[in-house]
Amino acid sequence: GNNVSIGLLGLGVVGSGVIKLIESHQEKLSHQLGCNVDVKGVLVRDLDKYREVGVDQRILTTNPDDVIQNPEIDIIVEVMGGIELAREYILKAFAAKKHVVTANKDLVALYGPELQEAASNNKCDFYYEASVAGGIPILRSINDGLSSDLIRKVMGIVNGTTNYILTKMDKEGLSYETALKQAQELGFAEADPTSDVEGLDAARKMAILCRLAFSMDVDLNDVEVKGISSIDLEDLNYAKQLDLTMKLIGYANFEDQKLDVSVQPTLLSHNHPLSSVNNEYNAVYVYGEAVGETMFYGPGAGSLPTATAIMSDVVTVIKNMLLNVTGTQFVEPHFKKDLKAPSE
Ligand code: NAP
Ligand code: HSE
Repeated sequence: GNNVSIGLLGLGVVGSGVIKLIESHQEKLSHQLGCNVDVKGVLVRDLDKYREVGVDQRILTTNPDDVIQNPEIDIIVEVMGGIELAREYILKAFAAKKHVVTANKDLVALYGPELQEAASNNKCDFYYEASVAGGIPILRSINDGLSSDLIRKVMGIVNGTTNYILTKMDKEGLSYETALKQAQELGFAEADPTSDVEGLDAARKMAILCRLAFSMDVDLNDVEVKGISSIDLEDLNYAKQLDLTMKLIGYANFEDQKLDVSVQPTLLSHNHPLSSVNNEYNAVYVYGEAVGETMFYGPGAGSLPTATAIMSDVVTVIKNMLLNVTGTQFVEPHFKKDLKAPSE
């Protein structure tokens, strides 16, 4: 029957993937939802850059209100990145009673609880599956799949760019600079790759995972963070001689009411399951008291994989709309606001 319309803030690597996915998977989407999904507005900064892309030029705009305040749009998909402007636009979207889906881990790590509250005050949905580990449905898995268990440990490779760089240096002998350049060309890296290579992107993703897994807010200042920018081929060759592989590992352990979180280059033995996660792939290991060991693996960055996470959130929002309920990625009442990790 009716259409559900989305508005995109951003049309880069992820935004263009969303457009492609909607086109190629429309039949699947409309079959499960009983309605079509279309795009009625797209915000960019520079219209000239988008003359040649296969998007109806009439829906492109440089005025955020054309998208956020468009009465025909039900769901805003924020895929522009950055923190303050993205926050402002998303708060405006909630005020305009739009549901919001985002891929923005920088924003969610810093302002997740605030945005969540704004969403529920306006009876809107707020989902951000794409913000952690690209195409791996890890937030849903923790939130829904493991919701009955007590999670004790989360560990993983959660940054695609650095894993790509380390793999190319290790397996093909590429220099750090060449490997980083390739990761940028393939659309894995952030606009400014500093947060990727210095480990901050991974730390932010660990903070989001910790909120969901342990109901604890992590102050990023308390997280020990080390990146890979000072690693060279010599370090990797040395590791190889010892029969070890270097990976950038995010680690979160909850023990005795205390949460320890770190991100650092780590040497793994070849039979460790994380040692064979290569290129832009990510993997997240979750240990639950009852379930034991679980492991989630898949593409951690890239246009279409990330677009699937976005669109699966959009599908969830539309299902909520059809049921006349609102949903959230994160359930506020269980949030132990007073606990801080790891040190007071
Ligand atoms: P991108 O390729 O750099 O695209 C950004 C898009 O947003 C561009 O269309 C840009 O328009 C637009 N934009 C940026 N700032 C804007 C502003 N102030 N006003 C209007 N438009 C603006 O970025 P991306 O790789 O798609 O990443 C988007 C978001 O997804 C980021 O939060 C990123 O962390 C996240 N993410 C990315 C991946 C990935 O694999 N790339 C995976 C998961 C999550 P102009 O070109 O006109 O400037
Ligand atoms: N720059 C990020 C990465 C994108 O390389 O993992 C996915 O969040």
